[in-house]
Amino acid sequence: MKRIVFLISGNGTNLQAIMDNCKTGDIKANIVSVISNNPDAFGLERAKSEGIETKVINHKDYKTRDLFDNDLFKYIEGVNPDLIVLAGFMRILTPKITDSYFGKIINIHPSLLPKYPGLDTHSKVIENKDSHHGVSIHYVSNELDAGPLIAQATIKTKDAETLDELIERVHATEHKIFSKVIKFICDDQIILDTGKVIFHDIKTNGVHIDEYFEI
Ligand code: GRF
Repeated sequence: MKRIVFLISGNGTNLQAIMDNCKTGDIKANIVSVISNNPDAFGLERAKSEGIETKVINHKDYKTRDLFDNDLFKYIEGVNPDLIVLAGFMRILTPKITDSYFGKIINIHPSLLPKYPGLDTHSKVIENKDSHHGVSIHYVSNELDAGPLIAQATIKTKDAETLDELIERVHATEHKIFSKVIKFICDDQIILDTGKVIFHDIKTNGVHIDEYFEI
């Protein structure tokens, strides 16, 4: 069983989806710790109610990003994870962590990267009247939202759709594709080998899993 550590800052619906899939045995992993930089993150309550260890490392208690990352690194080292999952973690990690765990950290981002790295992706999609929106899952590198892509899921935007409606559909899409990717990683069917994502026994277009959802 793989040991997974989650890093979150907020609601934790993606965490919930993965916890649910671990419980059914679909994902063969133990979530050994859920870490948040935000003491009020609701995801911490979700983890506690599943009996999962939680840890708050509040960035506001640190003078610099490096000091925060040092403590985060120490804590993660102690937990000894096989996989670190960033699911709505709103801090940029320093190379201390991204280099040490390259190939072992993944992130979910609500856009079709390389389009719209950073914040406010949903509003940008609406403002620009994009015909499609989606989700990307990638290995984390030193560059924000730019590490090797593992999977993308695309949804069609709808006329006159509100921001909240779009966000809800993106979230539903995230829960599906993230669960799938994490399952494959835990089954050793997806690995990062010298910077390249390798898929074993998974039908792909040769580059990455690219799925289309009608949610
Ligand atoms: C998701 O939209 C994810 O793509 C982004 O942050 C959000 C987290 O949502 N990185 P939740 O906390 O999992 O509900």
